Amino acid sequence: MTTWNLKGTKSHLLICNGSSCMRKGGEEVTQAVRDEISLLGLDEEIHTTRTRCNGRCKDACIVIAYPEGNWYRVDSPEIGRQIVRDMHESSLETHKVYQFVNGEMSPNPAAAAIVGVSKKK
Ligand code: FES
Repeated sequence: MTTWNLKGTKSHLLICNGSSCMRKGGEEVTQAVRDEISLLGLDEEIHTTRTRCNGRCKDACIVIAYPEGNWYRVDSPEIGRQIVRDMHESSLETHKVYQFVNGEMSPNPAAAAIVGVSKKK
């Protein structure tokens, strides 16, 4: 158990470690993201958290970046490393399945993600 001093943190990456994401390389993605953060000396700027299922299993492995609110489909450790390096670059556009637009989660047409099951009853 650790209690980090998070003062100065600029980004928080939530890395899905739910069962679907773990079957699609979630552990390797987690290790790659954390290794890239260390390699670039960004430990004080980028905090990571392993999560359980985030409800987008078809997009596994999911990595969510806050405060931006971008949800990424990470299908290889290299894409995980790229998120750390290029979080604000357009090169990740096809991996960004959801993003906040005008304060509302919106699917990113460039990612061609499935719509998913509606929460409306
Ligand atoms: S297990 Fe990762 S989104 Fe469901």
